[in-house]
Amino acid sequence: AVSKQDELKIQAAHKAVEYVQSDMVVGLGTGSTAAFAVERIGQLLKEGQLKNIIGVPTSIRTLEQAKALGIPLATLDEQPKLNVAIDGADEVDNNLDVVKGRGGALLREKMVELAADKFVCIVDDSKMVSGLGGSKLAMPVEIVQFCDKYTLKRIQSLPEVAGCEAKLRMDGDKPYVTDNSNYIVDLYFQEPIKDVHAASKAILDLVGVVDHGLFLNMVDVCIIAAPDGVKLMER
Ligand code: A5P
Repeated sequence: AVSKQDELKIQAAHKAVEYVQSDMVVGLGTGSTAAFAVERIGQLLKEGQLKNIIGVPTSIRTLEQAKALGIPLATLDEQPKLNVAIDGADEVDNNLDVVKGRGGALLREKMVELAADKFVCIVDDSKMVSGLGGSKLAMPVEIVQFCDKYTLKRIQSLPEVAGCEAKLRMDGDKPYVTDNSNYIVDLYFQEPIKDVHAASKAILDLVGVVDHGLFLNMVDVCIIAAPDGVKLMER
């Protein structure tokens, strides 16, 4: 049986796929919500309602899903301009700034979604927050493996993220390794981040940091599915 939350994710995903038309290059997101959109695109291609779609996947996981569905795929090297990208998020605020990457795919997601004319974000209403960092769940930072403890400490001591707790993401008893062979440091906040733009810049400025899960000024449309209906917010 499909859970109530999955039903919402499906509603948001299907609404987002309405932005996809034949002959488009489409960024394919990662995570449980995005997977429903990828599935839908595969289904519409199979039924002939969509034709000549090229998908650009944001993770190895999504690449495998899309391949199995028969969606033709390309990389950003081959298709540097995308018409639309569809992906989930972990937190969304009222400015449509979002946190992504709890699934670990943040770097490829950011690269692909920045290359899209339109980035459509799909969430169920549990992802809405009044300030990023406010859900008390992780805000990920992708770092190189070299001297990870040193980089973790430097991130944690930035005044722009004062008070956060930094933890190396684990996969069993080993550090979690991203699709890009990097590690992830998860930041946990007691309160929402005061200035997300300052935090974004300060974290990125640290050598050893590859990127982070703050996706600012990137979302063009957010589709929010709630029990009382699907809402659309546009930048
Ligand atoms: C993957 O790295 C993430 O950015 C996901 O897109 C995000 O975590 C949303 O995932 P769910 O749809 O599974 O909540």
